[in-house]
Amino acid sequence: MKLDTLAVSCALFGFVAAETRLTGDILQGYPVIENLDITDVPANTISRYWISAAQAQGGGVSYFLPIFVARGSNDSIESGARLSLGGSIHGDELNPVAVVQRVFRELNESGIVQSGDFNGTVIGLPTQNPSGNVNNQRNFFSSSSNGFFYDLNRIFPGESIADGGDIASSYVNTIWNNVWGNGSNVNIAVDFHTLSTGSIGPLWAYADYRLNGVQRLAELAQPDIIKIDPGQEGTIETTWVDSDVPAITLEVGPANNWNQTLISRAVDFTFRLMDDLRMTSGGTPQVDLSNTYRATNFSDVYSSYSGWVEMYISPLEDVEEGQSVGTVYNSWGDVLERLVSAVTGRVLQVQVDPAIEQGSSVASIVYNETMS
Ligand SMILES: *[C@@H]1O[C@H](CO)[C@@H](O)[C@H](O)[C@H]1NC(C)=O
Ligand SMILES: *[C@@H]1O[C@H](CO)[C@@H](O)[C@H](O)[C@H]1NC(C)=O
Ligand SMILES: *[C@@H]1O[C@H](CO)[C@@H](O)[C@H](O)[C@H]1NC(C)=O
Ligand SMILES: *[C@@H]1O[C@H](CO)[C@@H](O)[C@H](O)[C@H]1NC(C)=O
Ligand SMILES: *[C@@H]1O[C@H](CO)[C@@H](O)[C@H](O)[C@H]1NC(C)=O
Ligand SMILES: *[C@@H]1O[C@H](CO)[C@@H](O)[C@H](O)[C@H]1NC(C)=O
Ligand SMILES: *[C@@H]1O[C@H](CO)[C@@H](O)[C@H](O)[C@H]1NC(C)=O
Repeated sequence: MKLDTLAVSCALFGFVAAETRLTGDILQGYPVIENLDITDVPANTISRYWISAAQAQGGGVSYFLPIFVARGSNDSIESGARLSLGGSIHGDELNPVAVVQRVFRELNESGIVQSGDFNGTVIGLPTQNPSGNVNNQRNFFSSSSNGFFYDLNRIFPGESIADGGDIASSYVNTIWNNVWGNGSNVNIAVDFHTLSTGSIGPLWAYADYRLNGVQRLAELAQPDIIKIDPGQEGTIETTWVDSDVPAITLEVGPANNWNQTLISRAVDFTFRLMDDLRMTSGGTPQVDLSNTYRATNFSDVYSSYSGWVEMYISPLEDVEEGQSVGTVYNSWGDVLERLVSAVTGRVLQVQVDPAIEQGSSVASIVYNETMS
C-alpha cells in the first residue's frame, strides 16, 4: 500500500498502476482506497476498505462501497485461488448482503485467515449498489436531465469518464478495474442476487456450461434449480465468463426479505467452494444433486391485461403443458384471463404481488426445449 510518486505520475499519464492506493481518507474507521491490488494488502488478515465508485450530484456525494479482502499466506498470493463474492448489484436484492457479511464473519471467527493456513484471497462486496438501497430500488439513479434509472447489471465492464463513460458506466468500471483489477485480482467469481420485488422463488443458479469450471461451481451450490444458460451481455457473470473467469449468478430467493434458510445454504456453498478450491483444507466436497433440477429453457406465463392476479402454483412444483396456473381479474372481480403453462416443467418463480401490468410475467417455468 503505497501512495508514492509512481502512483501520482501514473494517474497523470492516465493509466491504472496495479497497486493498492490509499486516498488518505478514513471513513467509519476504515481506509478509503482508489485502487485495489491484492498483492499488497496484508497477508493472513481480513482487511476492510471503502472505495468511491462514483460521485452523485449534491456537490459530489460519493457512493462508497465496502470491500472485504481476506488474504491468506504470502505464498498463496500466486498459487491460491482469487475468489470474488459480490452482492446486491440490484438495490432490492438483500439476501446477498447477509451472505457476504456472514462469510467474512465466519472466516474471522474461525481464525483460519489469521492462522496462516488460508490458501488464496477472497474479495467481498456486500453492497454493490447503495444508490439502489437509498431509493429502495433495483436500479441506479442518475440525476442527469430530470433523472432516470440504470440497471447496473447490464452495463459491465463499463467505461471510465476519460473514455467517454457516463456516471453509471464509470461506476461499474470502477468496480471492474479498481476493485477486481480487470480480472487480475480474481480468477473465480460468484455474484449473488435474488428475484425482483414481487415474486418468490428458491435457491437457483444461472450457469454458462460452455466455460470450464462453471458447471462445477454451479453444482457446488446444490441449488434447487440450475438454469444452464448462455448468459446476458453486460451482467457481472457474463463479463467474467467472457474474460475466461468461471462465474455464476446465484439467486437467493425473493427480494427485500432476509430468509435465513436460503442465506445459510448460500453461505454453506461458499465454504464448500473454498474447500473445493483448496483455499481451506476440508477436502474435495461430495456434491449432492439429488434435489437439483437442471434445464436449459424458460417459459414465462404472461398476463395480457393489467389487473389483479391470483396464482395457483408454487416454486418447485412440477406443472404440465396446458395446466391452469392463475387467473387475472379486473377491478370488479370479473375474470379477464385464465393463465396456463405452455410447457411441462418445474416452477421457478411465481408472482405474489397481485398488482400486474399487461405484458408482464407472472411466473417462470424451467424446462428443456427438447422435452416438449
Ligand atoms: C474479527 O472479530 C473480532 C472479534 O469479534 C473483531 O474485533 C474484528 O473487528 C473482526 N475483524 C474483521 C475484519 O471482521
Ligand atoms: C508478506 O510479504 C510482505 C512483502 O514481502 C512482508 O512485508 C510481510 O511481512 C509478509 N507477511 C507475512 C505474514 O509473512
Ligand atoms: C492452494 O491452492 C492451489 C490452487 O487450488 C493448489 O494448487 C495448491 O495445492 C493449494 N495449496 C495448498 C497448500 O493446499
Ligand atoms: C481489460 O483487460 C483486457 C486485456 O486483458 C483489455 O482488452 C480490456 O480493454 C480491459 N478492459 C477494461 C474495461 O479496461
Ligand atoms: C425461506 O425460504 C424457504 C425455502 O424457499 C421457505 O420454505 C421458507 O418459508 C422461507 N421463510 C420465510 C420466513 O420466508
Ligand atoms: C435438460 O438437459 C440437460 C442437458 O442439456 C440435462 O442435464 C438435464 O438433466 C435435462 N433436464 C431435464 C429435466 O430433463
Ligand atoms: C432453449 O435453450 C437453448 C439453449 O440455450 C436455446 O438454443 C433455444 O433457443 C431455447 N429455446 C427456446 C424455445 O427458447
